[in-house]
Amino acid sequence: MSTNVQKFPSQFPIPAGPGLDPRFPARAGAPGSKAGPISIARPAHNVSSQISKVGLSEICLSYRIQSGERLLALDNINLQVRAGEFVCIVGPSGCGKSTLLHLIAGLQPQTSGQVLIDGKPVQGPGTDRILIFQDHGLFPWLTVGQNVEFGMKMKGIPKAEREEKTRYYLRLVHLAKFEKSYIHQLSGGMRQRVAIARALATEPDVLLMDEPFAALDAQTRDLLHDELERIWSESGRTIIFVTHNVREAVRLGDRVVLLTFRPGRVKSEFPVDLPRPRHLEDPTVARAAREILDELRDEINRSLEAEYEEGVKPHVKTPAEAGSRI
Ligand SMILES: Nc1ncnc2c1ncn2[C@@H]1O[C@H](COP(=O)(O)OP(=O)(O)OP(=O)(O)O)[C@@H](O)[C@H]1O
Ligand SMILES: [Mg+2]
Repeated sequence: MSTNVQKFPSQFPIPAGPGLDPRFPARAGAPGSKAGPISIARPAHNVSSQISKVGLSEICLSYRIQSGERLLALDNINLQVRAGEFVCIVGPSGCGKSTLLHLIAGLQPQTSGQVLIDGKPVQGPGTDRILIFQDHGLFPWLTVGQNVEFGMKMKGIPKAEREEKTRYYLRLVHLAKFEKSYIHQLSGGMRQRVAIARALATEPDVLLMDEPFAALDAQTRDLLHDELERIWSESGRTIIFVTHNVREAVRLGDRVVLLTFRPGRVKSEFPVDLPRPRHLEDPTVARAAREILDELRDEINRSLEAEYEEGVKPHVKTPAEAGSRI
């Protein structure tokens, strides 16, 4: 299937990258943010490099299911993400979005194809990439502060720097007062914010975010959109962000990638050529989101039809199709 690339009309050119866009200059601190400026490590970018930060080449992944058959979850995914790009991925439930992030994070191997970071094949997890899970994955036996510090400790960051960054990132997600609390003492939204602070604190080149704001109230989500956008523009991080909320994808992304219902394939790519900062309620954002939603709805309908069939009939691979790694 060929990828459908669509463009939203705009009087503005596509930005060259965060901090390089004169409409959206890098700032030391967002207005209204309680977190003061801190030096955020910038990943080493070779702007002129033609090598993508993240490259997915002919990725297929099949799972062995209980019946012993193989379920094709991802089929021939080709996607290039350039350094400093903010890419959002949308698609119906079960189309393989989380699986795709797991592959990039090196948490599981693909059945065939290649995942490349800076042109080099991913061999497993690395500190250059971090995944924020749907269910946040915090350690209940550690305090909020210790959770945020954890990744930095693993990276060997000295104690004084860890403590400074922990305080900074907790202020950023408005949890400074909860540094000594345990995870069970927090609400779901607060836990998610700790997970975000923990991931940001390790300052990875590539941030993989799996529906990180889905459980948050509207105000907190708006605030974190602003903060995430600010951090991204200042730090030059590459972000791959999975969401079910198409408006959120248009609000945040340089590009929105739409996956098909199982097996997940890249159906369309939508470069979002709208000025930043954007807001969820902007009419231009709503208009762009509607276009994507129309295509997404077709895929959601396919997924509902599959569910109403007599049991879900997975695409079963022939032995020749099936890879041998999983
Ligand atoms: N460990 C596993 N074993 C077998 N099948 C799996 C496994 N993990 C995921 N799957 C299947 O792979 C497909 C893709 O799952 P995935 O979690 O990546 O979807 P998703 O797009 O993230 O869905 P959602 O939007 O609901 O989070 C689904 O059909 C799911 O049942
Ligand atoms: Mg998922």
